[in-house]
Amino acid sequence: MAFKLDINGKAAVVDVDPEMPLLWALRDGLGIRGPKFGCGIGACGACTVHLDGEAVRSCSMPVSSIEQGKVMTIEAMASDPIGRIVQDVWVELDVAQCGYCQPGQIMTATALLKRQPNPSDADIDEAMSGNLCRCATYRRIRAAILQAAAKISEKKA
Ligand code: FES
Repeated sequence: MAFKLDINGKAAVVDVDPEMPLLWALRDGLGIRGPKFGCGIGACGACTVHLDGEAVRSCSMPVSSIEQGKVMTIEAMASDPIGRIVQDVWVELDVAQCGYCQPGQIMTATALLKRQPNPSDADIDEAMSGNLCRCATYRRIRAAILQAAAKISEKKA
């Protein structure tokens, strides 16, 4: 079945089983490989994308459920004002180790900073709790989010 999607600001069509998870429609149907397969049950966060600005798990979301929603992936973050700041800080602080989980971490962090530009440690813990990192880069992730928040507030001043 053909589905018209809005991916990274562009119209896209995928012809797939309605139950196919969005992750596979993106990766196999559209060649968008930033979102990663981790657990397949929405428990690790490696597949995180934005759906209408919310961080969602694309591995456990059927493509038929997207409807008119706007999907953004890590591929679009370089041209997103907040996503760009987050990515730059991630590089500056050398957050990634193996890197596998990091697209999902950045997507969740960016969604957090968009709704809460000045998060507390507790806000960060809560927002990021569903994004696992086998390399345990959690301290650098927290530092990067705090630094990104400081840069966002500098820009607003
Ligand atoms: Fe390796 Fe997170 S950087 S899993």
